[in-house]
Amino acid sequence: MGLKQIDHGTEAYQQMVQLRHQILRAPLGLQFTPEELMAEKEEILIAAFDDDDIMGCCMLSPVNDTTVRLRQMAVLDQVQGTGIGASIMTFAENIARDKGFAKMMMHARATAVGFYEKFGYKVIGAEFSEVQLPHFMMEKLL
Ligand SMILES: CC(C)(COP(=O)(O)OP(=O)(O)OC[C@H]1O[C@@H](n2cnc3c(N)ncnc32)[C@H](O)[C@@H]1OP(=O)(O)O)[C@@H](O)C(=O)NCCC(=O)NCCS
Repeated sequence: MGLKQIDHGTEAYQQMVQLRHQILRAPLGLQFTPEELMAEKEEILIAAFDDDDIMGCCMLSPVNDTTVRLRQMAVLDQVQGTGIGASIMTFAENIARDKGFAKMMMHARATAVGFYEKFGYKVIGAEFSEVQLPHFMMEKLL
């Protein structure tokens, strides 16, 4: 399995959108809008590939000069629990550090809080709702 940064609008990006739809949106009956996807031109797009097949992904969005937000973390159903999410987290944190960010934060689904805790992220503040699901804000100094 290889980890890489991918470019918006490429074949790899199309695979990433399909994976995110399948794992994060379709189960909720939601779809990405063209405007949402167009806005991702400015994001740092990260994916894990097994040969030509995408296994997992995430995105990094700068919040300000020091903080970056991790978004859209998803691993293909069949290979969840096999270490791919952990590899993506380590890769994403290294990229964030290389780009000079001092803090990483995310809106974590309540069901994923335990995953982020494994990497030292702490819950900040109260539960809130996003895409109809309970979430917590989490953060860590890189
Ligand atoms: C959450 C997700 C990204 C984790 O990726 P993964 O590849 O399944 O996780 P890994 O196999 O790398 O697990 C790394 C560690 O986290 C633990 N872990 C994984 N998912 C977890 C979860 N939901 N809650 C608590 N711990 C979790 C694993 O047991 C493992 O622990 P270990 O190191 O002690 O063995 C993935 O399961 C997924 O895509 N879930 C559905 C979408 C989702 O919820 N995305 C996050 C939105 S905020």
